[in-house]
Amino acid sequence: MLLNRDDWYDTSRDLDWELSYVDPKLAFPDEWSGAGNIPADAWQKWDEPFRVSFRDYVRIQREKEMGVKAVSNALSRAGLYEKLDPAHVAASHLHMGTTCMVEHMAVTMQARFCRFAPSTRWRNLGVFGMLDETRHTQLDMRFSHDLLKQEPRFDWAQKAFHTNEWGVLAVKNFFDDAMLNADCIEAALASSLTVEHGFTNIQFVALAADAMAAGDINWSNLLSSIQTDEARHAQQGFPTLEVLMEHDPQRAQTALDVAFWRATRLFQTLTGPAMDYYTPLDQRKMSFKEFMLEWIVNHHERILNDYGLKKPWYWDQFLVSLENGHHAMHIGTWYWRPTLFWKPNAGVSKDERDWLREKYPTWENNWGALWDEIIKNVNDDRIENTLPDTLPSLCNLTQLPLGSAFSRHELAEHSLEYKGRLYQFDSEISKWCFEQDPERYAGHQNFIDRFIDGQIVPADLAGGLLYMGLTPDVMGDDVYEYAWAKDYLPAETATA
Ligand SMILES: [Fe+2]
Ligand SMILES: [Fe+2]
Repeated sequence: MLLNRDDWYDTSRDLDWELSYVDPKLAFPDEWSGAGNIPADAWQKWDEPFRVSFRDYVRIQREKEMGVKAVSNALSRAGLYEKLDPAHVAASHLHMGTTCMVEHMAVTMQARFCRFAPSTRWRNLGVFGMLDETRHTQLDMRFSHDLLKQEPRFDWAQKAFHTNEWGVLAVKNFFDDAMLNADCIEAALASSLTVEHGFTNIQFVALAADAMAAGDINWSNLLSSIQTDEARHAQQGFPTLEVLMEHDPQRAQTALDVAFWRATRLFQTLTGPAMDYYTPLDQRKMSFKEFMLEWIVNHHERILNDYGLKKPWYWDQFLVSLENGHHAMHIGTWYWRPTLFWKPNAGVSKDERDWLREKYPTWENNWGALWDEIIKNVNDDRIENTLPDTLPSLCNLTQLPLGSAFSRHELAEHSLEYKGRLYQFDSEISKWCFEQDPERYAGHQNFIDRFIDGQIVPADLAGGLLYMGLTPDVMGDDVYEYAWAKDYLPAETATA
């Protein structure tokens, strides 16, 4: 008689035995497991709801793969890519150039769970997580490779692994912190719980919906397929938090507060501009802020509440940043567009501006005046005035420009000295994150530090572009070649 899965499942994954030839602390060093003073038997409680067997896993993943492949084969024949709106397409360049590398970093993180997680059940689930992330890396690679003949920018799916492009460095810095440099417990809180269970919804659910509306069925389908895996392996966060809450709640609070702010800043950079500026107006489902409030903020507050944690101390500042940070990152990236490997859409035609004003009542006062200056220069044929000669100062935590966390009116300096070196931050919050574990961050040089250190020659924008590997065929420029600015010409000039 065949047993039901529930009859054999626990036996199949409880494969621990007492180590006698080797000291358990050597087999599972704290640096890797992060278990510290938490007693070994506390992990007996660790459990997850998916209860997947290897056989089922393989069957289901095979079906998912066949689904993605069938759609992509059908669509590549239909020549759909050529018909897509170029501003939307920029969002897919940005995604592939920054996400493929992260999926691969996640393979390493999950592999660490497989080997070093303090619970055998967790190690078991990590195996599936590792296979998931391998699939995601390969999906991004295949998608990008298929489109390479249309667009050299898809090469960045692979190039990102080796580049010094500043945006990629910012992404890499965060995931080095949350995935590669994190022990199992930190990674479960920062990556599984905060990013995979929370923030990826913006990229993989909201952006998938926008992509579908834009007619990019292939990409939308890929994003949705990936998200079904995330929903499962993200479950590694909750039981870990539960154990930590019993033994070291302060550590849980700090780790989540750091991860939540860092993830906010990252998604303000990657997803905010894509949703509120690159997605064609009639295809937008929700504003970035609305999506954040519904899917991330409520969700995060609920987790904190359920587990007896407090809201981060910086909550009020976070809400101000939610109103502004991605607008700041958008105007910044558009202005420094030669330093990007995608073509940003300004997204401030008159109609788009009405939408921005409606969604963000403070937008006009905070950002409109800056765009007006740009528009004036564009319409007066002074494009050179809308392009940078220098590089902005960067935060030593987020790697993002100083002044990009809040509105243009909030530019207070935040810095500290640590072991004789001066560090700059984009906010009081980023400074606080640094202070929680200075050794973790202190050795890193941001792009500007490397400039000052003489690593970038010549020490000007051209040298910077060379260092970042930005060649003319992929270098960013306004995706509509400034056509949107004609909206603002007096009527007779516009039609002339
Ligand atoms: Fe993934
Ligand atoms: Fe993941």
